[in-house]
Amino acid sequence: MSSDLRPLANKRILLGVTGGIAAYKSADLARRLRDAGAEVRVVMTRAATEFITPLTMQAVSGNPVHLHLLDPQTEAGMGHIELARWADAVLVAPASAGFMAKVAHGLADDLLGALCLATAAPLALAPAMNRLMWSNPATQDNRRVLESRGVRLFGPAEGEQACGEVGPGRMLEPHALVEMTAGLFAGGCLSGLNIVITAGPTREAIDPVRFISNRSSGKMGYAIAVAAQEAGATVTLISGPVVLPVPPRLKRVNVESAVQMYEAVLANVRDCDIFIGAAAVADYHPVSRAAHKIKKGQNEMTLVLERSPDILASVAALPEAPYTVGFAAETENLEVHARAKLAAKDVDMVAANWVGGPDTGFESDENALLLIWEGGGAELPCAPKDRLARELIAVIAERYHAKNKAQTS
Ligand code: PMT
Repeated sequence: MSSDLRPLANKRILLGVTGGIAAYKSADLARRLRDAGAEVRVVMTRAATEFITPLTMQAVSGNPVHLHLLDPQTEAGMGHIELARWADAVLVAPASAGFMAKVAHGLADDLLGALCLATAAPLALAPAMNRLMWSNPATQDNRRVLESRGVRLFGPAEGEQACGEVGPGRMLEPHALVEMTAGLFAGGCLSGLNIVITAGPTREAIDPVRFISNRSSGKMGYAIAVAAQEAGATVTLISGPVVLPVPPRLKRVNVESAVQMYEAVLANVRDCDIFIGAAAVADYHPVSRAAHKIKKGQNEMTLVLERSPDILASVAALPEAPYTVGFAAETENLEVHARAKLAAKDVDMVAANWVGGPDTGFESDENALLLIWEGGGAELPCAPKDRLARELIAVIAERYHAKNKAQTS
């Protein structure tokens, strides 16, 4: 296998096939993706099935083909949201002019359209159409919209077309599409780096049935872990108790208490290049844990707490400390407190967020971040946590590489 294709090993590629004569090449494409080590699942539009049979695509992909958005049987197996989450990348080849328009306008009226909207994975389209359809201003507007949103367009190629005309609009050959799909994973901004991320709350036991904790759901930290992995990093996620699924192919270390999280971080941080502390770690924990459930007694009871180890500050103080990013969860004076944490914990960056209301911070699906580092900063406006995490990772990568360059020059 060509070394350029190695990044496809164990990757999950969702191959979308839309209606066009180039669909006959999708079978070869699926086979080549599998030869390169990828796992392939195929989604076909109704029009695609006029050009190539689902049975053929099932045989070459080695998996059942997905056809309908509202098919109870399919939804009971791997539903459309699960399928969107399953993918490490979505490649639609061929992508017809109509399908490009659909994605550009966010239409979810069939399974493939819905998947393109629902996935957080990189999305690539391989356009295939008549040259006049390709050069039509409507298609070119759609192309610009798609590219501005980060959708990759693979091709089209120029040449003789099925309709006998010559010009741009041919689908790229399968071997070229496989190489470009591998390229989605090869050149990430964190390629080859090891990252340790903490996420979720900690639980500090009072007795066998009670604990002190907080409202962290882990959504922010998990989204950062996925974004770092997408950017090419090898990720270790040290997680407090949450109900989120383990992102595929990521090392998750489960912990409960702040002390356990501290120990797990120190055991995993040695060869790490970047550490991101997104967990909501309990600052204090009970001095002792009762062996049995504490019984009701007097009207008042006193719980004696002691400071938990500061994980973030400990990592930043290591002799060969990784690039260290801390969070600041604040309900007032966001910037003032964030700057104080940057200095007090001696970290490279602080990502500060409001946690006072229901719309951002703890538990919510969206968040906004104020990033601060020595001599600079950036604001990442409110967005779904998966998108925000990708933006955060892009800034962290830029600052990490800038720091390394400054140290080596
Ligand atoms: O999990 P979600 O529901 O998605 O919510 C996301 C979040 C609000 C939890 C997340 O965005 C966030 O702000 N995480 C940090 C929460 C926090 O504990 O903030 P802090 O300001 O108390 O702590 C500052 C930093 O020190 C944090 O990086 C924290 O991980 C770290 N810390 C704190 C105490 C301690 N003993 N050890 C630490 O490492």
